Order: sequence, then C-alpha cells, then structure tokens
Amino acid sequence: MPNKKEIILTGIKPTGTLHLGNLVGAIMPVIKMANDPKAGQSFVFIADLHALNAVSDRNEISKHTHEIVASFLALGLDAERTVFFRQSDVPEVTELSMLLMNVTPKGLMNRAHAYKAAVDKNIAAATDADAGINMGLYTYPILMAADILLYGSDLVPVGADQKQHVEFARDIAGSFNNIYGNILNLPKPFIRAETGVVPGLDGRKMSKSYGNQIPLFDTPNDMKKKIMRIITDSKLPAEPKNPDESTIFQLYQHFADAASVTALRKKFLSGGMGYGEAKKILNDAIDAYLAEPRATYNALMSAPKKIDAILAAGAVRARAMAGVTLARVKSAMLG
Ligand code: TRP
Repeated sequence: MPNKKEIILTGIKPTGTLHLGNLVGAIMPVIKMANDPKAGQSFVFIADLHALNAVSDRNEISKHTHEIVASFLALGLDAERTVFFRQSDVPEVTELSMLLMNVTPKGLMNRAHAYKAAVDKNIAAATDADAGINMGLYTYPILMAADILLYGSDLVPVGADQKQHVEFARDIAGSFNNIYGNILNLPKPFIRAETGVVPGLDGRKMSKSYGNQIPLFDTPNDMKKKIMRIITDSKLPAEPKNPDESTIFQLYQHFADAASVTALRKKFLSGGMGYGEAKKILNDAIDAYLAEPRATYNALMSAPKKIDAILAAGAVRARAMAGVTLARVKSAMLG
C-alpha cells in the first residue's frame, strides 16, 4: 500500500467492454488504492486520447468511456476523494505532451515495446517496417508521460505491460529537470501484485483478444449462459476433481469468502458434485457480488447526463492542478 501523501494516478483506455478479468486485475485494486484514506490525492482518468491511435469510431470511444465511468462508480470508486475525469477534457495534457517532445530522445520511442511489436509484425509479414503505424502510436509514451507528470504523480499503478511506459515518464522527467531545473516529480510504477490469472471460458487468461471473456455487466441471464459454457474436462459427477486445474474454481476464489472457497475446494476433491452444479455455485457467487453494483451501473448508464456531469466536475479539479504544472513548465522553457 502507498505511503501517506503519495499522489497516485492511473489511466484506463476506453477500447473495450470491461470483463471479469479487468474487474479482478485492474478495477478492484485501483479502487482499493484510490479510496485508501491513508494515501495522498488520487487521480483516475479515462485515456480517450490514447485510444485514438487504434480506434477511429467516436461512438465506440464514448460508449466505452461511459461504461468505464459507470463501472468504477458502481463498484465503489469515491469520486469525491479521487479526481475522476476524461483525459481529453484537460487540454493542458496535450500542450505538455508537445513540450515534452523536445526533451524526449527519439531512440527512447524506438525502444517502446508496443511500437517494437508493431514493427516486428510488419517485418515478419515482409511489409514496410512502419506500415500502418501512426504517430499517435509512436508518441504514445510521451502523452502518457504528460498524463503522469502533469499531476506530480508519485505512484502509477499499472499492469506489468505498462511498466516501461512509466519508466519512460521518469526518464523524460529526469531529462527535463537536468535542463530546466527541478520542476517535474519523478514517478514510480506500482505493478499490481498478480492476484492469480483470471481464466476465461476456455481456461486461457481472460482477454478480449482470445474472445473468451465474461462481460462484467451483462444481464444476469446472459452471464449465467456464459458461465454454463465454461470448458471443463469430462469427469463424471461422482469423480473427485482437481480444483486447482478448474476454471470454475479459480474464478470462484475471487467472488466468495474464504469459508465458501474452502467448502467448494472440499466438494471438488471429494467427488459427488458435477461441473454443472459447480457452475451454478459460481454463478450464484458472482451474482451476489455484482447485484448491488449492477443496479447502480444500470441506473448510471440510463442517465448519461449524470455521467457527463461527474466527468465535468472531475475535469474542473484536474485542470486546476494541471494548470499549475503547465505554467511552471512553460515558464521554465519559454520564459
Ligand atoms: N497506457 C495505459 C494502458 O494502455 C493507459 C494509460 C494512459 C495510463 N495514460 C496513463 C496508465 C497514465 C497509467 C498512467 O493501460
């Protein structure tokens, strides 16, 4: 957990409908950190500008933005305590991004994992190395550095795949400070402890790219249908089963209390419970866990103006802080 007074910031890209893997891997830990009364100010934002390098449909971006905002609020993010906003509502971030370009070595961008992966894919397909790569993708880490540095962030909770980007932000802040004096705070990545991989319907890691996800806020009925489709081995009801190799059991651990988890483990090991029954037990647990958040989520999604008002209030608070950093940076660079 963060130390007292550390500024915490994280962004979520609105590129897909949230699923249970996002809930366990990102939403739960971010809300826990952001709501922690012992921590300093927290910032959580929807990184809609970052989505633009891959998504050109504005309806998709705004739909996912609303879904993410409603999800975080429904699951308990305290928007009074946390500054909760949409990246594109804070024009200071694009201005800072442009200024930071001048202290960012091009070679650093060449080494970015996401860019390198896109280049490697092109080379493997024997096309031009930079085919289909826009400058939004190439300069993605600079915009992300601006997100982080604008609010004086100390800790940036991210998945392991984003660690390099946070390190780049730190490098960029260091280069800036070397030239212009000690103005930007140096951030640190806070890599979320792996709470165990959340498996999807086919047993592989739950991921949009595998198409094996269980959406977070499906209707109870649709969710149940998905859960009943989880792939299992062909053991008969009477046979003992291995909970540690079961997608059903692994999912259950995230939604039930310790005593219920122990009880289900015993039922797996002793035999006498079919997979159909185990799936029903899992579905009931998820249903109970999500009942209240689901009601709040649905209420918010049918009141988009309310969501917009929350984002607008967040943007006012974010801009007040962003303006201070930007003014200092501009005056250091331009006089
Ligand atoms: N790049 C992050 C992701 O894809 C999202 C993001 C944008 C972010 N700006 C950020 C995360 C700043 C942390 C801090 O998940």
